[in-house]
Amino acid sequence: MIPNEVINRILDKTDIVEIISSYVPLKKGGQNFKACCPFHKEKTPSFMVSPGKQIFHCFGCAAGGNVISFLMKHERMDFIEAITMLADKAGITVPRTGVTGKTKNTLADKLYGVNNLACNHYQENLAKEYSKVAGGYLIRRGITERMIKHFRLGFARDSWQGLINYCTAKGIELGMLEKAGLILGNAEGGNWYDRFRNRIIFPIFDLRNRAMGFGGRVLDDSLPKYINSPETYIYTKGRHLYGLNFSKEYIKKQNYAIIVEGYLDLIIPYQNDIRNIVATLGTALTLDQIGMLKRFTKNVIMVYDSDKAGEGATLRGLDLLIEQDMNVRIAVLPKGSDPDSFVRKEGKAGFMKILKESKDLFDYKLGTLTAKFKKDQPHSKARIVAEMLPTLSRIKNAVLKSGYLKKMAEELALDEDSIRTELKKVKPVYARDYLGPRDVENKKSVNQAELALLSMALEDAKFLRKIEEELGFEKIQDRHISTVMGKIDELRKKGKKITVSHLMSCFEDGKIEEIISEATSVAQTIKDKNKVLDDCFRYIKRDNLKKALNNIQSKIKEAEKASDTSKVTRLMSEYNELIKGFGK
Ligand code: CTP
Ligand code: MN
Repeated sequence: MIPNEVINRILDKTDIVEIISSYVPLKKGGQNFKACCPFHKEKTPSFMVSPGKQIFHCFGCAAGGNVISFLMKHERMDFIEAITMLADKAGITVPRTGVTGKTKNTLADKLYGVNNLACNHYQENLAKEYSKVAGGYLIRRGITERMIKHFRLGFARDSWQGLINYCTAKGIELGMLEKAGLILGNAEGGNWYDRFRNRIIFPIFDLRNRAMGFGGRVLDDSLPKYINSPETYIYTKGRHLYGLNFSKEYIKKQNYAIIVEGYLDLIIPYQNDIRNIVATLGTALTLDQIGMLKRFTKNVIMVYDSDKAGEGATLRGLDLLIEQDMNVRIAVLPKGSDPDSFVRKEGKAGFMKILKESKDLFDYKLGTLTAKFKKDQPHSKARIVAEMLPTLSRIKNAVLKSGYLKKMAEELALDEDSIRTELKKVKPVYARDYLGPRDVENKKSVNQAELALLSMALEDAKFLRKIEEELGFEKIQDRHISTVMGKIDELRKKGKKITVSHLMSCFEDGKIEEIISEATSVAQTIKDKNKVLDDCFRYIKRDNLKKALNNIQSKIKEAEKASDTSKVTRLMSEYNELIKGFGK
């Protein structure tokens, strides 16, 4: 919890241009700086950074905010991480107590709280039943007591209500347990039951060591081997890397990360002093995960067991890493072993040897393909080239690229020029195309007139007063915009100095920051403020009126259907009264 004054002080001592330009190449253009937007795919720059206002805004995808929001969005930091980084840079110490500008006890806070309780419960269970089932299993797998504590491993007893009873006794509502994905059932019948039963529990932590979700493994060979938390408000699959909270400092120090698949594939090496390691938890590596890793290193070694390593889909996924400018190497374990079993057998030294023998992704891929297809047949050569070209086309370093090209030509006994010709035809599918609608969906949905009003309210107190008198904040349809106006009003009445950037840090909702930044850029296009203000009032009033009329109309239809004549008459006169408003 950080006091608002401190946040503002940090913002005042920070230059958004300096911070953003360390991630995005900015070019000066007039008063602002420009670049191609890092949040959506584009060829001409529509991403603006304003040194005067200390905000950024993209005219293409409507992303926007202050320097804190930039770090949160671009570097995937959370609020506290971003503030801490900026404070360090500015030489400001951040006190951790006191009041906060953010709303306390948000849904996220509550969910983290519930998850923490669940962690405790599962840990207590494990302590109690250690020598029995759960402990027996973990000892068999060779996990030390120290690691069990470190990773907060636990045990869900073979009971339908174990967690429910524990949590409800502590005053937690069932609804919250359900939102946390910890219980299942139907609300009407009240037949709630624990999701995790008779399983070893692996909590999944975020970078601040808060449990976001859980995985549960059976103690024997029954199926399904793992069950996992569903997606919740605080947990999205593929957006986190298991173990990164523990390993990030080691990754930074050693400047590379080992990527494995499973919980135990991480814990056992970690226990054996191999600590720069993360796990994807069985899914293909996502852009979000790459983005998180990139904060700590650009070098990764993927460790596969030999069965999976050669699969085309896995290799294709790795092209994403190249495009994100990561150096990728592949290490292959002997057939039948995974990092867990291998390290238990061969120890750290054995594992380090495997890492040392790892191959550069390009070489590895070429090797796998030439082993799979006979490279002396023309059509298999073409097949190999076709698989390799997307990888090649993603390599940005020209020297590296031509080196690889040469190697490939030699290996396949082809001439370089023909590969080069084929390479020109390749249009890589950019990683951002996979981003899906999440980042672009909120484009331009805001009522433009209300946005214009907000832009003026931000500029001058007299405009804000006029909006309140003429319209009233409650008449604003977009609830984000009315919230911001209310906040500006509140701060003004307290006599606080308001800057756009300070205002943004008052809200937790990223959407609000985007609206503020959009409003700020709209302001620059408005010339005659008073005229626009009047136009907006008229427009908004008309729009509200239209909605009210539609509403009455459908009520009239209903009343007619029900043959309620007196109601029809009453509604009709209401309608006629309202419609007079259009004349004004
Ligand atoms: N996984 C999962 N659901 C499954 C199987 C696997 O979520 N039904 C995830 C788990 O996170 C698991 C990872 O994929 O850790 C790797 O799967 P696998 O190699 O099958 O499991 P291991 O981690 O090797 O588990 P164990 O060694 O205990 O058998
Ligand atoms: Mn395993």
